[in-house]
Amino acid sequence: MSGEVIWSEGHSGGSVSALDRGLHYGEGLFETIACLERRPRFLALHLERLALGCARLGLPAPAAGRLRERIEQAAAALPRAIIKVLLTRGPGESRGYRWGREAGTCVIMRFPWSDADAAQGRAGARVRIASTRLGENPALAGMKHCNRLEQVLAANEPGSAEADEALMLSTSGRLICGTMTNVFLIDGEANAVRVRTPEIRTCGVAGVMRRVVMREAARAGLAVEACAMRLEDLSSAREVFLTNARVGLWPVRSLPGRELAPGPLTARLAALMRPLLEAPADG
Ligand SMILES: Cc1ncc(COP(=O)(O)O)c(C=O)c1O
Repeated sequence: MSGEVIWSEGHSGGSVSALDRGLHYGEGLFETIACLERRPRFLALHLERLALGCARLGLPAPAAGRLRERIEQAAAALPRAIIKVLLTRGPGESRGYRWGREAGTCVIMRFPWSDADAAQGRAGARVRIASTRLGENPALAGMKHCNRLEQVLAANEPGSAEADEALMLSTSGRLICGTMTNVFLIDGEANAVRVRTPEIRTCGVAGVMRRVVMREAARAGLAVEACAMRLEDLSSAREVFLTNARVGLWPVRSLPGRELAPGPLTARLAALMRPLLEAPADG
């Protein structure tokens, strides 16, 4: 990885402690924030998800104002960058699972961000179905926590080189999301078009970009339904697109055994999103 550590706190000696509970138990959270024009995009939403995750996991949360300031300073150094914020409980006071009075570790990393993503976004995604499944646990659903082994296995399955992204099912067969994206499906007849996205109730990450797409669609009078979905829903979808904080809205151009033509509703939603993606909105 060609990133640089911009700021880290909660450890000594210039590196994260080998006793850090983020390393031992994956006990932490992260955010991947796209920055352009030297400003972080949707920072308020990223900070909100982080704060919610800290509350759910009982993690020591850094002061929001200070964290915001550090991220903004890191973003200001480059016209375009990806900033990764990593929070963990910090070095454990004892060897076991029980908490002590850990103060937390916070690391801010900055990575270069080329505009290749924009070209990839325009070209559309070739999508396969991952064979690795997501375990179901409502206590962890929605958070961008540091336990990402399922995504790591899915992203490295045979066939991964021929696809841009892999969609994942849960252990009970629900369609949930991509390895690094949320997914939206469009189907229905002309006068009753439906835009749906899998609910994030038992597993999956509640993406910042998913939230923005749902909000902007609702403002334009297009309700997006979050519901239980299965693989068969993908077969009947006319248009499919993916979202994440980096690529924005990413149309799917192929699914296993099927090519998808660029669709009108995806184009409409992409047009709604464009001003927000190009001029870094805070929330
Ligand atoms: C597993 C997973 N789901 C969804 C997303 C999309 O989240 P966001 O829109 O916040 O980038 C990501 C982003 O990396 C992810 O890793």
